[in-house]
Amino acid sequence: MEFISVRNLRKVYKIGKEKVYALKHIDLDIKRGEICCILGTSGSGKSTLLNMLAGLEKPTKGDIFINGVNVAKLSEKKLASFRQENTGFIFQSYNLISQFNALENVGMPLMFKGMARSERDRISEKMLKLVGLGGRMKHRPNQMSGGQQQRVGIARAFVAKPPVVFADEPTGNLDTKTTDEVMRLMVRMCRKYNITLILVTHDLEIAVYADRIVHIIDGEITSIEDNVSVYSPEDDEPSGEETEKNKREDKTDDIV
Ligand SMILES: Nc1ncnc2c1ncn2[C@@H]1O[C@H](COP(=O)(O)OP(=O)(O)OP(=O)(O)O)[C@@H](O)[C@H]1O
Ligand SMILES: [Mg+2]
Repeated sequence: MEFISVRNLRKVYKIGKEKVYALKHIDLDIKRGEICCILGTSGSGKSTLLNMLAGLEKPTKGDIFINGVNVAKLSEKKLASFRQENTGFIFQSYNLISQFNALENVGMPLMFKGMARSERDRISEKMLKLVGLGGRMKHRPNQMSGGQQQRVGIARAFVAKPPVVFADEPTGNLDTKTTDEVMRLMVRMCRKYNITLILVTHDLEIAVYADRIVHIIDGEITSIEDNVSVYSPEDDEPSGEETEKNKREDKTDDIV
């Protein structure tokens, strides 16, 4: 069995007498360390699928195995601890805690693991440097730009190095340049720590960073294509004028 296996997954929403078949019949396998993009238009069922994979919503029918555990069948309590141990989530709207500064936001998953404050601050600080926010540790979300907030969200999702990170339109609010930076950052983290990334988007420009592209239309997978990611961290090998930038990245690269 693959690292993630989805079998005969269905989600039907009932509104009064009306039924919405958000997911009709989904079968999907995803390997450990794979970057998998779920691509589809608005209303095709992307967020529904992602939320179910991440254990945020219960399916109407079907099984979702992650690392051998059927998350669709876990009790709420077991599911909460499974999520904590195994998953990170990146939201389009960042979902940072407004009273917490960047350092505290990033440290949240470590706090839930019971890690002492000094240790989690140390790791969170390194993580923030890795995402290029070494100078924003004490800033609260409303004191940062959208791109900076999203980088805090990414740092938070990856800080505990979970085996799988889910991302729902992670670059939806960002400009083209920041989108590219954010996507590269996520690819680098996944490659470095063998983290599986499942991201959903309607944007082909994002899909090109993935190893596999899963097309979804009206709650059904219509095709799955292998893809060679447009970005490989090895592309950043120091050379010529890029050296300064690479030095910076190298320095922060093996911290966490
Ligand atoms: N809580 C809900 N109750 C009823 N219907 C829902 C609910 N959530 C989603 N749906 C319906 O399920 C379908 C899929 O919605 P979903 O949010 O998964 O789409 P999406 O692909 O993520 O779209 P977008 O790109 O706009 O975010 C839509 O027809 C939507 O109206
Ligand atoms: Mg959505």
